[in-house]
Amino acid sequence: MTTPRPLPDQTLRTAIERDVLVVTIDRPGEPVNTLSPALVDEFEGLFLRVDEDSLIKGVVLISGKPDSFIAGADIEQFLTLRTAAEAESISRLGQRLLDRLSKLRVPVVAAIHGACLGGGLEVVLASRYRICTDHPRTTFALPEVQLGLIPGMGGTQRLPRRVGLQAALDMILTGRNVRAKRALQMGLVDEAVHPSILREIAVDRALSLAAGRMKPSVPRGGGPASLLLEHNSLGRGIVFRKARESVMEKTHGHYPAPLAALVAVQAGYSRGMDAGLEEESRLFGAMAMTDVSRQLVYLFFASNALKKDPGVEPPSPSPHDVRRLGILGAGFMGAGIASIAVQQGTAVRLKDTDLSRIGKGLAAVRAVLQERLSRRQLTRHEFDDALSLVGGTTNYSGFESADLVIEAVFEDLDLKQRVLQEVEPAMRDDAVYASNTSTIPIAQIAAVAGRPDRVLGMHFFSPVHRMPLLEVVVTPDTTPEAAVTAVAYGKKLGKTVIVVNDGPGFYTTRTLSAYMNEAGRLLDEGASIEAIDDALVDFGFPVGPVTLLDEVGIDVGGKVGLVLAEAFGARMAPAESMRKVVAAGRTGRKGGHGFYRYDDEGKKGTVDTTVYGVIGGVRREIDRGEIVERCVLAMVNEAAYCLEEGILRSPRDGDIGAVFGIGFPPFRGGPFRYIDSVGAGRIVEQLEDLNARFSARFRPAEILLHWGRR
Ligand code: COA
Repeated sequence: MTTPRPLPDQTLRTAIERDVLVVTIDRPGEPVNTLSPALVDEFEGLFLRVDEDSLIKGVVLISGKPDSFIAGADIEQFLTLRTAAEAESISRLGQRLLDRLSKLRVPVVAAIHGACLGGGLEVVLASRYRICTDHPRTTFALPEVQLGLIPGMGGTQRLPRRVGLQAALDMILTGRNVRAKRALQMGLVDEAVHPSILREIAVDRALSLAAGRMKPSVPRGGGPASLLLEHNSLGRGIVFRKARESVMEKTHGHYPAPLAALVAVQAGYSRGMDAGLEEESRLFGAMAMTDVSRQLVYLFFASNALKKDPGVEPPSPSPHDVRRLGILGAGFMGAGIASIAVQQGTAVRLKDTDLSRIGKGLAAVRAVLQERLSRRQLTRHEFDDALSLVGGTTNYSGFESADLVIEAVFEDLDLKQRVLQEVEPAMRDDAVYASNTSTIPIAQIAAVAGRPDRVLGMHFFSPVHRMPLLEVVVTPDTTPEAAVTAVAYGKKLGKTVIVVNDGPGFYTTRTLSAYMNEAGRLLDEGASIEAIDDALVDFGFPVGPVTLLDEVGIDVGGKVGLVLAEAFGARMAPAESMRKVVAAGRTGRKGGHGFYRYDDEGKKGTVDTTVYGVIGGVRREIDRGEIVERCVLAMVNEAAYCLEEGILRSPRDGDIGAVFGIGFPPFRGGPFRYIDSVGAGRIVEQLEDLNARFSARFRPAEILLHWGRR
């Protein structure tokens, strides 16, 4: 019997249990297991041992990490890939390894607890039998497309063969997570057990399979409903066509990876597994070299780095624990914040001026929880617990025990100041006070505070339970304790948190306004609403700026515009068209009356052409490229100003804030990555051209000029 050479950084640990080789995957010193070419030798050693030692009857693969199985390929290694050929050969290496695994002399049982992602799932698919735990942390996904890649270790071939074409495409094209129960239903795993018996049952199953007492499971292939479609080439043709259409509809052709994955899957069906694998590797190589993939990988690391950033420069104090939260204002935002807070076990007191408002707020909290319950993201027990944590009040009772108070009242400085003055005497000395304003400088609100040092901004985005970003705003007075407490609590609520310095519109509202305002100016000049929205959706924004204004509320946009115009003068002066539409009393979707038509359920229809009567002037064609250039560069230039003025702590925060908060296209990496891709010199040239044409509102930020000269 040969024993693998013990290496100091060895990932695979082995033990023999009842003649079964139990292989514990445990990458030393790393929080999760990832796969890299360095592991190939270790696996080869293992295979050799199994081949040579006839006493070994089976193999169990299990993770040594507490909450994850394998988190996929090591994403950091993707950064080092220089050519498509290099990436392709790494994929081939992985495929050959898993081919060996699937043909091993003895049965291999994958015993999965925790996240089983990407290459991890591909290892599992190449195993002969799969058991997972029924724990909520156990999830399966092929997230490669989210990084601009495709599965590269046989996933595009083995997954459809195991679970059927439609179920497989759903996972491969979206990167969607599948939980244990669903994995069992769809035949992705053979069995789900309690974590405490995972290892033991896995060894049992390996022995039963080896002794022929159990047969390896037969792939489900998607169940009877899909048989009709999937088991003939005509039906499969329909599935592939529909999948392609759906990808194009969602991505507008900006993301090549899902289309490449479709080609690889299709090759496997039409030309067999070997050809499919070859196509998979080739396309993996091609995708690894795309700019889209580089940007998405950058965003992955940028948001991971933010998870560890306390939000202040070192040495950072420890954050206070937020167990009790007071919320001022039971409106849409207040209720939204309450709905995510109670899910983290925070006791919430919602304060508003009368009981009917509180009633509406509580109903809104309930609706969010109800949706999670019906999607089975919460158990009935968790739902009841969460709901019991929120209470309402028309006075400040209970606020004396709050660790954090978040104000979410109407966007009006006087009101915000009054509310702050009212609640302050009821607050504990060490409690933090946050305003959820989207625009008003925090220092102005804090001007009336007895303790301005504990006042900051927590700018949540709407709808709070869906939007991933939180912008924490600090003033020169805010203490580091208050800042780190807000940041840590934001992370606990599941948000990606950026910390910015105070100023009108902070970062996100300010850059978004520059962009929306330019759209307004295009309307002034006669561009049609569709032309503007289509051009920017084509650029990659999820919706166009005019649609977004209807969503946010035209009245809200109008107010924001005034604050920013006051602060930044001509550069941010509101467009005429916006001013007129605000004055006409149109509020957008919420009022059923905006730039577009809305039905009774609030569903958007076509452009409401009567709005052109309000705006005045004649419509004319404006070049699509000009629409994009003006709106995007207004935003990018404003982002550069924010960095130059110290509103932003880093370009990274600017990229994450724009992508996660205001819909900047992820495949472009964010405004600062966009500057890098186009080249600062070229951006400056474009801005200077625009600046000469349009009343000096495109004056390039100094920092851009500086970068352009480098
Ligand atoms: N490659 C490289 N590093 C990875 C990784 C991967 N596939 N998956 C996780 N990590 C790193 C993270 O960057 C982080 O590193 P850091 O501590 O140096 O910042 C660390 O592992 C822990 O990850 P984190 O996300 O903080 O832990 P978590 O418990 O919240 O989540 C996962 C764990 C696995 C669910 C999550 O990390 C994840 O989704 N990873 C991405 C998986 C993926 O996309 N794989 C496909 C590769 S093709």
